[in-house]
Amino acid sequence: MDNSKTQLSFRDEILMGIPKELPAPKSRIAELNHAPKRKQILSREEKKLAIRNALRYFPDTWHGELSKEFAAELEKYGRIYMYRFKPGYKMQARPISEYPATTNEGAAIMLMIQNNLDPEVAQHPEELITYGGNGAVFQNWAQYLLTMKYLATMTEEQTLHMYSGHPMGLFPSSKDAPRVVITNGMMIPNYSSQDDWEKFNALGVTQYGQMTAGSYMYIGPQGIVHGTAITVMNAFRKVLSKSESPKGKIFLTAGLGGMSGAQPKAGNIAGCITVCAEVNEVAAMKRFEQGWVDELHKTFDTLIARTKEAINKNEIVSLAYVGNVVDVWERFYEEELFIHLGSDQTSLHNPWAGGYYPAGLTFEEANIMMSENPELFKEKVQESLRRQVNAINRHAAKGTYFFDYGNAFLLESSRAGADIMSENNIDFKYPSYVQDILGPMCFDYGFGPFRWVCTSGNPEDLQKTDAIALNVMEQIRQTAPEEIQQQMEDNIKWIREADSNKLVVGSQARILYADAEGRIKIAEAFNAAIEAGQISSPVVLGRDHHDVSGTDSPFRETSNIYDGSRFTADMAIHNVIGDSFRGASWVSIHNGGGVGWGEVINGGFGMVLDGSGEAAKRLKNMLFYDVNNGISRRSWARNKEALFAINREMKRSPGLKVTLPNLVADKLLDELFE
Ligand SMILES: NC(=O)c1ccc[n+]([C@@H]2O[C@H](COP(=O)([O-])OP(=O)(O)OC[C@H]3O[C@@H](n4cnc5c(N)ncnc54)[C@H](O)[C@@H]3O)[C@@H](O)[C@H]2O)c1
Repeated sequence: MDNSKTQLSFRDEILMGIPKELPAPKSRIAELNHAPKRKQILSREEKKLAIRNALRYFPDTWHGELSKEFAAELEKYGRIYMYRFKPGYKMQARPISEYPATTNEGAAIMLMIQNNLDPEVAQHPEELITYGGNGAVFQNWAQYLLTMKYLATMTEEQTLHMYSGHPMGLFPSSKDAPRVVITNGMMIPNYSSQDDWEKFNALGVTQYGQMTAGSYMYIGPQGIVHGTAITVMNAFRKVLSKSESPKGKIFLTAGLGGMSGAQPKAGNIAGCITVCAEVNEVAAMKRFEQGWVDELHKTFDTLIARTKEAINKNEIVSLAYVGNVVDVWERFYEEELFIHLGSDQTSLHNPWAGGYYPAGLTFEEANIMMSENPELFKEKVQESLRRQVNAINRHAAKGTYFFDYGNAFLLESSRAGADIMSENNIDFKYPSYVQDILGPMCFDYGFGPFRWVCTSGNPEDLQKTDAIALNVMEQIRQTAPEEIQQQMEDNIKWIREADSNKLVVGSQARILYADAEGRIKIAEAFNAAIEAGQISSPVVLGRDHHDVSGTDSPFRETSNIYDGSRFTADMAIHNVIGDSFRGASWVSIHNGGGVGWGEVINGGFGMVLDGSGEAAKRLKNMLFYDVNNGISRRSWARNKEALFAINREMKRSPGLKVTLPNLVADKLLDELFE
């Protein structure tokens, strides 16, 4: 019998793992968006090592054929993705009942992995990259196949250990242990430069997990729309008086990619004029066709005329400009267009490999130069950053409020020698959005991007969870203190409108900023609804790593920590360990994510609610720690809002005893060094 002609079912294919017979070679699907060719960094000996490493997934009888193919992939793409092993079935989150699995957790994690790789969701699906240009779920397709098989066959007494996409294996554990423990890109600290990532990723021994890519918790662009809307709304609150509205006022920014594409939609929710430059026409067109940006402008003439009209008519509208953002900053200055808010979401965490396109080069010219003449390309990027900063400084002198949007813009500009440092030469001229907005207004109070996924795949279940969450939030608001009323109001508005904003792409997921009390009460209500049969199947809880406690990142999540500890990573490590023994179904910890490899340590969790009493116990214990760990660290750093929040929490939770700081008078210290 010729087995290769027999069509295997989805379940059989999953259970098979690495196929028994060598599948036929596969070419890449041209219509999909592919990762840029990575720089050739390996020596001849290292290339042999990379191929030797890749071949260890396969029997030696295949080595002759595969070695040539993998060598060709390494040459052509700078990485070995093993395209031949990409499964033939549709890559998408299926209802949980369709997965062959012995545990609910195993099935739920498979669902989450498939969602992260769904071509509708992922940025470079065939290179197993979910977002941010390099945010990988796995390094190659062999790792995917093996992992899915392990997840399908694991018992409640085993834990799967994932090393940067590589499944090391199932190890005996216990029912209370996480089912999966994930690390991504963890390096010996001295080996965390950008080129270390290029080299060790090409060797096939590490990967850049970004945040929710490598932890299977990405839920498409809605995650970022909510956070961006909160940021833009609060930024306008900072610069406008109470009686002024953002209508007819400009928010200028760049990037219509994976996450940055949320900016125009968030601008519309905040109610302003968004002008967003995007150098890649395909990316701009995609966001336009998806309805994420209202208008597309290819020339300055139409962009300028339309912006002026929108100001005069006090409009709420989002305008994409296909071109370089540096030119927009400069041209708007010449045209004397006043910009209320300015930011940037180009991928400067990845500056030399396609994250930032320098002014003065076309998109195509830049793509060729970055692989053929990387040194010159680096110079062009740095020159362009200096130009961009000069233009921003001119606008800021007229009153523009500019903030860094977590993409390492200020950091890379400073490295490029741009005029970006403040007078003390320690701080930047401009704040990061966490320093001024998300830190003091959200994270320090415990508010962050809580999320959930309905594993039935049924939109009706999602609507039920929305209604439950709305009800819980409204109840909490009734007795919430003045300090968090604005947060409660913004988030209640968000969840009330979430369904009609049609934000779901991929799995049936929802994001909602909530504090510890909100997260726990919402989760308890979901668990009760599952038990009562009102929600038809388990719900996965999780969060973005970009949150109160999960991430130590001195230029982003912890940029509003001023006691010197923002360059430490204890909080994120405690978080992942603390969550793991308090009941998480899976935990992850990553080097890199957001601002770049070596610049951040971040972690997250997933928790499967199945309606059981056991789940009710776990969720309370784990969510409480997951949020209050960060609040306690923020309060120890003397952050006023966090001190308020942790004191409030200690009053109502007798088991919580946190060390509090004694505050020192400035005068006393100043006198010491007079
Ligand atoms: N603040 C946050 O909450 C937050 C959230 C997500 C991402 N980020 C950061 O924002 C950045 C963007 O993330 P993404 O997922 O959208 O990445 P992405 O690579 O998908 O998109 C960036 C886009 O910027 C465009 N671009 C690059 N240089 C340009 C230039 N000079 N002018 C105009 N357009 C240019 C690129 O063509 C690309 O489409 C990342 O560094 C990410 O870490 C911040």
